[in-house]
Amino acid sequence: MNMLKIERVETDKKRFLELLLLADEQESMIDRYLYRGDLFVCYGPDGMPACVAVVTDEGEGICELKNIAVAPSYRRKGYGRQMIDYLCRRYGRDFLFMTVGTGCSRLTVSFYEHCGFSYSHSLPDFFTLNYDHPIIEDGQILRDMLYFRRRIAYDPQHRAHRGPVG
Ligand SMILES: CC(C)(COP(=O)(O)OP(=O)(O)OC[C@H]1O[C@@H](n2cnc3c(N)ncnc32)[C@H](O)[C@@H]1OP(=O)(O)O)[C@@H](O)C(=O)NCCC(=O)NCCS
Repeated sequence: MNMLKIERVETDKKRFLELLLLADEQESMIDRYLYRGDLFVCYGPDGMPACVAVVTDEGEGICELKNIAVAPSYRRKGYGRQMIDYLCRRYGRDFLFMTVGTGCSRLTVSFYEHCGFSYSHSLPDFFTLNYDHPIIEDGQILRDMLYFRRRIAYDPQHRAHRGPVG
């Protein structure tokens, strides 16, 4: 696949709600981070949004990937992976680590591990305490939030190996 063109969205972020809900199905939870976070989108060859992601500044050199979703017809084509690689390069200029929280689901854990994240810690009962309905993935009710992290700090010595950052 060619390098994706990824844009930062500054206005009317809710027009991407349909995609954001694929990763986080309760709108009130998305509202907790959408406006304080940076929203990115990349479009497919048909001009439709293929992938969105939201990143927040959590302080102390840590940024957090709060949401990443790929439209169903674009999955397993490398869009999610390329979006994460782009975000790690971009945020690696100012942050040491990128973290991401997810439910205990085979799909997402396998995806984040494939993208260079390692397990860090868990928040017990996060899903059962914060969502107004049971969240089900892979046929299982999600309870704990699992946190993964990846070191992203920009290392000038490896500059030659990194692509351009928008
Ligand atoms: C998770 C998600 C973002 C992955 O995006 P994607 O563009 O399909 O992923 P990629 O094509 O970049 O996959 C990269 C690697 O991740 C792993 N992976 C991706 N989807 C997977 C799946 N369904 N099952 C197992 N592994 C998977 C694979 O190792 C894959 O590499 P491969 O295709 O060479 O085997 C996408 O499935 C999605 O939007 N899901 C719904 C929303 C969601 O769950 N978001 C995350 C919430 S925390």
